[in-house]
Amino acid sequence: MLVTGKEILQKAHEEGYAVGAFNTSNLEMTRAVIEAAEEEKSPVIIQTSQSAITYAGSTEIAMIVRLLAEEASVPVALHLDHGTDWDVVMKCLRDGWTSVMFDGSKYEFDKNIEITKQVISIAHPMGVSVEAELGKIGGVEDHVKVDAKDATMTDPDEAVEFVEKTGVDYLAIAIGTAHGVYKGDPELDFDRLKDIKARLNMPIVLHGASGVPEEDIKKAVSLGVNKINIDTDLRQAFKKAMHKVVKEQPDVYDPRKMLAPTSDAIKEVVKTKIRMFGSNNRA
Ligand code: 13P
Repeated sequence: MLVTGKEILQKAHEEGYAVGAFNTSNLEMTRAVIEAAEEEKSPVIIQTSQSAITYAGSTEIAMIVRLLAEEASVPVALHLDHGTDWDVVMKCLRDGWTSVMFDGSKYEFDKNIEITKQVISIAHPMGVSVEAELGKIGGVEDHVKVDAKDATMTDPDEAVEFVEKTGVDYLAIAIGTAHGVYKGDPELDFDRLKDIKARLNMPIVLHGASGVPEEDIKKAVSLGVNKINIDTDLRQAFKKAMHKVVKEQPDVYDPRKMLAPTSDAIKEVVKTKIRMFGSNNRA
């Protein structure tokens, strides 16, 4: 069933687990994520970056995800990941996303509050939930690139003020993760997470979770993270499976036969993450 992000994440916040938000840009990835969630009896969030929308088409990708979500036996939300452009966010609201992130992290604090508030004033009456980002998460996520020197951790006092002034539904915080592939293991600031969660008492979002060691993910969940974004791990599973097909079955040229193993690989990664995040059997 298709639901809002808030419906999924409020329950996760109240019951103490996290739900995976997996990036998609086509039919095969979407289907793999939903099948994994159904097999694990887990709620799930499917998210599209702005460049995934440019790649697939806004109406087209919305129709694919919404249709598969409506047919699914588990709750599925369609979320806009890192919406930095006002026009894209508005188009997603019109095209049926049930959750949007307005990423105003490149703006000064007050400007971020102002635009986030404007987005919420339109999204909420339409029944769409909103995520915002405070602090700056490093690394590269499609069109969003933040150099390590520009990444900044979320300030807990600012987080309280930001949430009070905007009324945002869930907040992405910067505690040391980064988008993309890590060079070493990331160092997460768990004390900061604990402090922010205690003061906000709302769903918290962790970006850049691919490649973060399992024990760190589990600790972050135990300290109050409720939405965990995964993109790079899916892309790498796709690439590895595709490479294997090309190498081991050089005579195969049917795209369906080449894509099937990539879907299986993505599905396996999603199932592993779901169990790691503790959202299995929560649908
Ligand atoms: P990764 O690519 O590191 O998994 O991050 C995904 C993400 O945070 C999307 O917003």
